[in-house]
Amino acid sequence: MEKSRALTKKAKKIQAGGTGSTQRLKVITLEGTTIYMERGSGSKIYDVDGNEYIDYYLDYGPLINGHAHPHIVKAIKEQVEKGTMYGINNELEIRLCEKLIKHVPCAEMVGFHSTGSEAVHTALRLARAYTGKNKIIKFEGHYHGWFDSVHISSFSPPKGPEEAPEPVLGSPLGQPKSVLQDIMVLPWNNAEVLEKTLKKQAKEVAGIIMEPIELGHGILPKEGYMETVRELSEKYDVVLIFDEVKTMFRVGLGGAQEYLKVIPDLFVCSKAMGGGLPISAFGGKKEIMELITQGKVPAMGTYNANPLSLAGALANIEVLEKDGGKAYKEMYRVGEKLMKGIREIFEELKVKAIAKGLPCQFVTCFTEMSAEEITNYRAWSKAIESAPEKGERFRVELLKRGVFSSYPDWHLSTVHSDSDVEKTLGAVEDSIKEAGLAK
Ligand SMILES: Cc1ncc(COP(=O)(O)O)c(C=O)c1O
Repeated sequence: MEKSRALTKKAKKIQAGGTGSTQRLKVITLEGTTIYMERGSGSKIYDVDGNEYIDYYLDYGPLINGHAHPHIVKAIKEQVEKGTMYGINNELEIRLCEKLIKHVPCAEMVGFHSTGSEAVHTALRLARAYTGKNKIIKFEGHYHGWFDSVHISSFSPPKGPEEAPEPVLGSPLGQPKSVLQDIMVLPWNNAEVLEKTLKKQAKEVAGIIMEPIELGHGILPKEGYMETVRELSEKYDVVLIFDEVKTMFRVGLGGAQEYLKVIPDLFVCSKAMGGGLPISAFGGKKEIMELITQGKVPAMGTYNANPLSLAGALANIEVLEKDGGKAYKEMYRVGEKLMKGIREIFEELKVKAIAKGLPCQFVTCFTEMSAEEITNYRAWSKAIESAPEKGERFRVELLKRGVFSSYPDWHLSTVHSDSDVEKTLGAVEDSIKEAGLAK
């Protein structure tokens, strides 16, 4: 860790936070040293000291086809030769619109930004402009980016009664309290509370935004919940927005809306669409999206629809589409094997822990609670907070054994292999023993 140690020391003096994004240090620090990465290839990432890690962090999801996939690298190289930014229309944006319209059930028109936070920002504007109303309903524990208007009750410990959560600012210092006037925080997976709220306050509510599957907590909607949300949003003239930044192109080509067969009015996506290039999209019903065409709602950004990101995203989607989505089947098979293998190790070693979620992304957690009990953020917070030190010891031991898990999350890619799973399961077993987590 010699080189990483020297870089950590330098960064602490000159880089704000000692990292590019505040959340990062949590997953990549080992004994006070930040591990600096140098290159990635397939399912592996390599640090500056030459250590290899099987990567289940995958930049928190975007690298659905692993690192430096040859098809994506070729497309980017070809585009670099032709220029990275035109700042004006190019044909690639039409091609990516067509792909999204083909795969995403609600997409009748599409637009682009560079990050998920920006795409959410535009979707919220559209909802407000379309309905002429102001308030947005969001759900406790759902993250929609770090912009002032929605970075509320995302990761913070729950506050207030479960049925009426107290909104919590993501950054109490620096974030204006006034944003709380336009946000209502409700418990997710609870149709009754949503219905009551809309019955009383629908006249003020422009939109409902949600993560349709809580991949980061391994939680799926309860049976019938999403259908009820859809019915209620129609009944009360509220725009339903699915934030599919995590789920789109990870769960499948048509994201959570295809998986759950519930179609929102608007969607936003990013991560696994770009396959490692900074790009996001928003889209949905034509009559809402046309507010932009009509010049009523601006959607701006210097880097919007830049040809480099578009070329990368198109090549990434081509890999995913190939042979009728064969890559997804393989990713789900390998992910299932890993999740099942981890569960078996927990059982064998009598460790009180769970592995839950979808094979494309799941979570592990050291808790006395059962996977079935965890159906919303309150329950998840209780579970993850019951033994945070165990999770931390597990993460560190895995990292020492060449497995980069970003505990509690495990992201799969289409290039993780059976051999990765074998090695990982060996590391999981050894880490549990070494960290003293086995009975
Ligand atoms: C569901 C969801 N929405 C929005 C965002 C924000 O995206 P970005 O970090 O690209 O701004 C994220 C990022 O993790 C996310 O997971």
